[in-house]
Amino acid sequence: MLVGHCQTTPHVPAGARLGGIEALARCQAEDKGYAMSVADLRMEYARAGLTEEHIDPDPIRQFGIWFTEAQEAGLPEPNAMTVASASREGVPSARIVLLKGFDERGFVFYTNYDSQKGRELTDNPRAALTFYWAALERQVRVSGTVNMVSREESQRYFDSRPLGSRLGASLSRQSEVIPDRSVLEAEFARLQAAHVDGDVPLPSFWGGYRVAPSSIEFWQGRLSRLHDRLRYARQPDNTWRIERLSP
Ligand SMILES: Cc1cc2nc3c(=O)[nH]c(=O)nc-3n(C[C@H](O)[C@H](O)[C@H](O)COP(=O)(O)O)c2cc1C
Repeated sequence: MLVGHCQTTPHVPAGARLGGIEALARCQAEDKGYAMSVADLRMEYARAGLTEEHIDPDPIRQFGIWFTEAQEAGLPEPNAMTVASASREGVPSARIVLLKGFDERGFVFYTNYDSQKGRELTDNPRAALTFYWAALERQVRVSGTVNMVSREESQRYFDSRPLGSRLGASLSRQSEVIPDRSVLEAEFARLQAAHVDGDVPLPSFWGGYRVAPSSIEFWQGRLSRLHDRLRYARQPDNTWRIERLSP
């Protein structure tokens, strides 16, 4: 949301506009008559606290409580999360995907097994997940080992997706360089014609990953940067130890 004279004007070509946060900072600064940089953007977090007495002893149940609250708050795509992977050499990469299920076994997302993340997770089956629910001033960090879900589970989820998503997943050689967009559109039209019955087979290169957590941290923003951080660490006997971390 921009304020005062800086409200988005339709005659400005999109390419000439500043991107989101930078535009907001610049425009607010102009409205207030002083120069403001991105470095000056900050806010105080005062909505809630997170204490050892009130947190659930089980991190998956605690995640469920926060996830439900994120849904009930009407946040857009509360299941969007950053997935960080790393190559065999330890070079990291991160991207957003959608969480499609969670239970005591871990956190599930679906993707192309031959994509960059797919290749990295094959070579180095460890991942970190981060959720950020800004309006609730909350972050959740998960770290653990990664396994493919069963073909049956991938099949069930694939079959539940809209036809367009199934066709898109079937044609995309995710993360590969392509000459232009027309390649995708032509292939989409070809597949659509080939599957008028809506029966699209699960591609061999597509399916789910489950991140089995070894640690899960819940972060609640607090005043003066004295944030609450409670981390569950999995013990060898599969129970969870809860530790408070300095903000
Ligand atoms: C909100 C959002 C949701 C996304 N969900 C998924 C998803 O569930 N699975 C997926 O493979 N890519 C998803 N993407 C695209 C990924 O961010 C990424 O571009 C793609 O998976 C290729 O990543 P890679 O080259 O690192 O493998 C999503 C992107 C956004 C912005």
